[in-house]
Amino acid sequence: MVLKEVPLYFNESMRLPPEVAEFVTDMNQRIDNFLEGKPFAEKGFVACDHELIARALISIRDQQLLSGNEMCEWGSGFGGVASVASFLGFEACGIEINTEVLQHSIDLANEYDLDVDFVEGSFLPEGSDDLVDQAYRENDGDITLETHFDDAYRDLAKDISDFDLIFVFPWPNDAPLLSRIFDRYASFGSILLTYNDFSGLKVERKIG
Ligand SMILES: C[S@@+](CC[C@H](N)C(=O)[O-])C[C@H]1O[C@@H](n2cnc3c(N)ncnc32)[C@H](O)[C@@H]1O
Repeated sequence: MVLKEVPLYFNESMRLPPEVAEFVTDMNQRIDNFLEGKPFAEKGFVACDHELIARALISIRDQQLLSGNEMCEWGSGFGGVASVASFLGFEACGIEINTEVLQHSIDLANEYDLDVDFVEGSFLPEGSDDLVDQAYRENDGDITLETHFDDAYRDLAKDISDFDLIFVFPWPNDAPLLSRIFDRYASFGSILLTYNDFSGLKVERKIG
């Protein structure tokens, strides 16, 4: 694996652009409404800290860490990270397997007139089944993400190697698999931004 961690320095109380702050507040309220009364993390959906990720995206953009502006949110849920990226000038999209949360992401993007593509399907590319099998073996069968493969990239008319930045909020047991997928399929120089409930965010660049 040739991913190199990139330090990202930013002020965690940096003010967000007002339109981004307003969007995130609205989305967080909708997520709270959606989750109310549901069992914890129903169907694998739980939301990241969108304010933190918005600040990270601004820093990545302003520090010119990317050679292009194509981004994809793997498992996009309510689509918050891809939508914020779109506000910030990225060419953004998201892939989500749960149709109910996917619909929320599409509704939000439409209401805010955002040019962001959300497609239904799996972000696991066809041909990565050996990596999925390895993850099952290493975790004694305990994998949280949906492990089937389909044509989400065809629907987007893009490959993983087209993205300059991929964001994912994996369950801890799934994180090594997603790093390996990125390592195999992403283009050199592109960045994987990962959020973790406990350790916060990590920025890694594919260097070899
Ligand atoms: C931890 S949630 C993160 C949601 C969102 N990215 C965020 O940060 O708020 C993980 C999401 O990945 C979705 N998911 C799980 N396996 C998937 C797969 N193979 N392809 C696409 N989405 C998947 C789940 O339905 C869930 O919405």
